[in-house]
Amino acid sequence: MSENGVTTQESAQTETVQTPRVKKKRGDFRFGPTLGEGSYSTVILAREIASGREFAMKVLEKRHIMREKKVPQVEREKQVLSRLDHPFFVRLYFTFQDSERLYFGLSVARKGELLSKIKQLGKFDMECARFYTAQIVSALQHLHSLNIIHRDLKPENILFNDKMQIQITDFGTAKQLSDSGDEPRSSSFVGTAQYVSPELLKDKKACKSSDLWALGCIVYQMLTGEFPFKAPNEYLIFQQIVNCKYEFPENFDRDAKNLISSLLQLNPMERLGSASCGGYERLMEHPFFSGIDWENLANQPAPKTM
Ligand code: ADE
Repeated sequence: MSENGVTTQESAQTETVQTPRVKKKRGDFRFGPTLGEGSYSTVILAREIASGREFAMKVLEKRHIMREKKVPQVEREKQVLSRLDHPFFVRLYFTFQDSERLYFGLSVARKGELLSKIKQLGKFDMECARFYTAQIVSALQHLHSLNIIHRDLKPENILFNDKMQIQITDFGTAKQLSDSGDEPRSSSFVGTAQYVSPELLKDKKACKSSDLWALGCIVYQMLTGEFPFKAPNEYLIFQQIVNCKYEFPENFDRDAKNLISSLLQLNPMERLGSASCGGYERLMEHPFFSGIDWENLANQPAPKTM
């Protein structure tokens, strides 16, 4: 597998230091506890011995990746992560490999997943939901400005760092659209049942707006503790999605209801936040976000209830 891709970011960081960077190696780190496990990787807390710095080291077994035909997915993840330099995304600092494994050195998001936090609290109060929805919107605005679609946005892929800021992760299924702006939709099925958009189910096409559908599902889940589209099996969940069949609890906040229904629009072009609907500017002006300081989001303390 190719090893280029992060060198630009690395050299950009060290522009003033003229020493050439050498590839790191496994022996440069002391490995600690496992932070997470996926189907194709394990994330382990690792301390770089020379600097004392900690990283979330994503370790992938080459044999497994090749056997499962996931090489393109791994390359895509590396390519996308190396383009991202924003406070609300996990950051890729370096990569290296040995004969058996690939290593991705990521920023550590120590405070767990948004999903665990929703489960722990049951649901979020309005202030918390507003704060984290704004962070996700700001992150998506950045991602989409780079013509990247996440395609599997869900509370399991939204982590928290020590400052309780979101850190979006898992770009294995992300899609880099061409920068020319043509090919606005990407094909091939990806995603998680509860957050999958109707356009993906109907014509196997995802677009930037598909991430906005997932956002609508996540806001609903933060405020109710439940999925908007819930059923005993995937087939029935998909039926509800393609018919946009979901309900709000009684006495649900009016602005939140309006925001969620504007995001959960069957037609991707009619979703608030999509280019055809005034883009992120209009989404950020929604009354649900009143009081949000968009310029300073990354420097604001998390709500106390977190
Ligand atoms: N699990 C997966 N990625 C992680 C990260 N960057 N930090 C902490 N835990 C993780």
